[in-house]
Amino acid sequence: MTYQAKPDAIRHLNELQKQCRVLSKKLQASEEERAILEDLNDKKEMLLRNVLRDLQKSRDELTAKNQSLEEALRDVQIAENKMSTLGQSMAFIAHEINNPLQFLWGNIDPALDYIHYLLELIDLYESQNADLDESSSLSKSATESSSINPSSINPSSGNPSSGNPSSGNPSSGKPSSINSLSNKADEKWGLDLEFVRSDLIKIISSMRHGVQRLQEVSKSLRIMARTDLDTPVKFDIHDGINSAILILKHRLKATQSRPEIQLIADYQDLPEVECFAGQLNQVFTNLLGNAIDALEELNSDRKCQHRCDRPNWIVIETRLLADQSTISICIRDNGVGIAPSIQPRIFDRSFTTKPVGQGTGLGLALCREIVVQRHQGTIAVESELGQSTAFTITLPLKHARVDPST
Ligand SMILES: Nc1ncnc2c1ncn2[C@@H]1O[C@H](COP(=O)(O)OP(=O)(O)O)[C@@H](O)[C@H]1O
Ligand SMILES: [Mg+2]
Repeated sequence: MTYQAKPDAIRHLNELQKQCRVLSKKLQASEEERAILEDLNDKKEMLLRNVLRDLQKSRDELTAKNQSLEEALRDVQIAENKMSTLGQSMAFIAHEINNPLQFLWGNIDPALDYIHYLLELIDLYESQNADLDESSSLSKSATESSSINPSSINPSSGNPSSGNPSSGNPSSGKPSSINSLSNKADEKWGLDLEFVRSDLIKIISSMRHGVQRLQEVSKSLRIMARTDLDTPVKFDIHDGINSAILILKHRLKATQSRPEIQLIADYQDLPEVECFAGQLNQVFTNLLGNAIDALEELNSDRKCQHRCDRPNWIVIETRLLADQSTISICIRDNGVGIAPSIQPRIFDRSFTTKPVGQGTGLGLALCREIVVQRHQGTIAVESELGQSTAFTITLPLKHARVDPST
């Protein structure tokens, strides 16, 4: 029996085969499409990755720029802070310079008078000596000639004691004493030798004192105004503190509302510190300025009797720490003190408890920036309300940027 496929089944099979071909073509096409899509996807992914990388790079660049802008802003604020302190102290500095200058100026004329007077005495003395020389050579030749001709002897010329020794008479053969000669000069200059003797030395010594004072002021101004280089330099910290004191000295004087502020400097011998000196001077000026403000504030609240009872003081203490590679500077005052509740905020930018126009709230923020960020040091505060406040700074002797291995 031959197998005879049913025509329907054959048609159905053909149909199925046809459908299968179509489907496999479709599959192939979609496979190709998938490959193309995958490729596209890869490309897109790569593109996206590139975009993301570029974005990250730009973000890093922006962050870096932001940081350097912030640093530049801080530099400007530090400079502004410095200029404002110097500006406020200008009148006082002018006074500090003017005082010794006036003093020098006022002493030049008397000193010149004394010198002219003394020169005149020397002239008188010299001219008298010249006369004496002349007369003695004359009397010598007279003696010589008299030895040839004894009859020519003049009885008075051979006897010097017959003259007045202090008269300055050349024929006496002896010089007059300076005191007797001075009479002439005394009259002319209205001076007296004994007085000139003691006063000239006094005048010159005090002129020297005035010049020393001017030198100190000029040195302090140079130290305060110094601009830092890119690299830290060795610096005597005490020079910086003393310059800050000089700049603020006018604020220590007694006022109507309080007695003078006593400044006690308890310095230890310290090695030089590698640092940005101009910036550290700012720190000292800010801390001392705050201490004076705190004493002013305390006195504005106090009754007169209390003001007299309790002296106002600021103590500055410098020490070399036991590790021999760190120094500490402590500035302590017995002013108003800081309430425990605000102590954590005092280093924040713009935090101030002072009236508008007096406080900027920048001082301590800059101090922390300079000490911690720029010098790898520390700054801490300890305070008892109504009693005292102490700011302690520690600084490494060697700046980390100079020697990264340390
Ligand atoms: N020695 C101090 N005694 C008492 N309070 C202080 C002292 N130093 C700082 N402060 C407090 O810290 C605040 C912030 O100080 P600072 O940043 O220098 O800004 P400013 O002096 O402009 O107020 C001051 O307003 C004050 O309240
Ligand atoms: Mg301040």
